[in-house]
Amino acid sequence: MNDFIFHNPDKVYFGRNQMGNLPGELLNYGRKVLLVYGGGSIKRSGLYDQVVSLVRDNGMELFELSGVEPNPRHTTANKGAAICRKEGIDVILAVGGGSTIDCAKGIAAAAKTENGDVWPLVSSGVWATDALPLIAVLTNAATGSEMDAWCVISNMETNEKIGLGGDALIPKAAFENPEFSFSLPPYQTACGAFDIFNHVLDNYYLAGEATFDLVLEMQEAVMRTVVKWTPVALKEPDNYEARANLMWASSMALNSILDAGTVHACACHGMEHELSAYYDITHGHGLAILTPRWLTYILNEDTAPAICRLGERVFGLEKSDNVTEGAKKAIEAVNTFAFETLGLEPSLSRLGIDETHFRAMAEHVCGESGIIGVRSLNVDDVVNIYKMCL
Ligand code: NZQ
Ligand code: ZN
Repeated sequence: MNDFIFHNPDKVYFGRNQMGNLPGELLNYGRKVLLVYGGGSIKRSGLYDQVVSLVRDNGMELFELSGVEPNPRHTTANKGAAICRKEGIDVILAVGGGSTIDCAKGIAAAAKTENGDVWPLVSSGVWATDALPLIAVLTNAATGSEMDAWCVISNMETNEKIGLGGDALIPKAAFENPEFSFSLPPYQTACGAFDIFNHVLDNYYLAGEATFDLVLEMQEAVMRTVVKWTPVALKEPDNYEARANLMWASSMALNSILDAGTVHACACHGMEHELSAYYDITHGHGLAILTPRWLTYILNEDTAPAICRLGERVFGLEKSDNVTEGAKKAIEAVNTFAFETLGLEPSLSRLGIDETHFRAMAEHVCGESGIIGVRSLNVDDVVNIYKMCL
């Protein structure tokens, strides 16, 4: 167990009747608000009208940036930053899923730079310490962006999708009403759920020895919640309890509570971001295809106990005397969850992806040091894993 500092200043308003608190939160920072949203789901659901009324009826001036793409582009973030600089925006209001919130974080950081360009920040790997204040209204249980310090921005010209982190990027407040996710299509529900599951598994659960019992139990509880409630949400999209469990699981997975005292890794996330950068696929789907293959690839004497425990604690498999056999059953359970329960296509070839760019992707994600983790991976390992996904 490592020493840790826990500090997450994000104030979460969770539940059905919290939006009345939005104007007060915004007014903490000023009267000029930039509303950032995606391709129109919030207009169809009526959330757009609600938010616009809350802002305007409380004497604030509203500016808008719409059309944020899934896998948000640096060019879109730069457009938002230009509005902020021209209009003297005081606070950014992101209403949507992880892409919208991530783009808003990119805008918030870029607006504070000399030239308003987010890409130098993203590509240099700096820790962002200055940004405009951001408030998030979440509509998709998935990325944890509503409570974390990260955004992931894509540059399609260079086939790069990279995380930008910084304390300044943590939202000042997040509004989480599970009802806002009732309208999610099954595919996005499934992809979001797998993303949550993988955040815990990939980032800390299988990252290494450094952990302690309370945190391990909480990690398992979050993964178990995803396994239990996603099928309910798929069957009954307006089941409040199911959506509420998934939404809070999304936030819990990346708000730093579950990584207290652990070591970090992110093998699947690193490999997936390459896939999204080259092929613009949905993040959670890429993870679902990669995860069981990665587990199979890293299975050895050292990793078998933890993978076996995953099967027993998260998927409720019977206790196994032979940890390697138990681990294989656990991987089978992950397969079944991803491709049967969630109904996701099981291979990259089904998404129209072949091995053309595998080596370039592997070289990019490995950089000079490879992917560090419970079993570290070099370029050849990553190419092998991609090939297993075909
Ligand atoms: O754009 P709109 O019209 O809003 O539609 C979106 C989009 O088409 C739709 N949607 C969202 N909420 C909806 C809805 N449709 C109907 N009803 C609703 N309530 O769903 C589609 C996907 O939305 P998106 O925001 O792209 O999904 P998600 O929340 O999964 O975000 C994915 C992005 O976040 C990044 C991913 O890489 C990807 O770029 N990540 C961010 C992280 C972070 N900030 O820490 C960590 C993650 O690991 C991840 O990398
Ligand atoms: Zn993710």
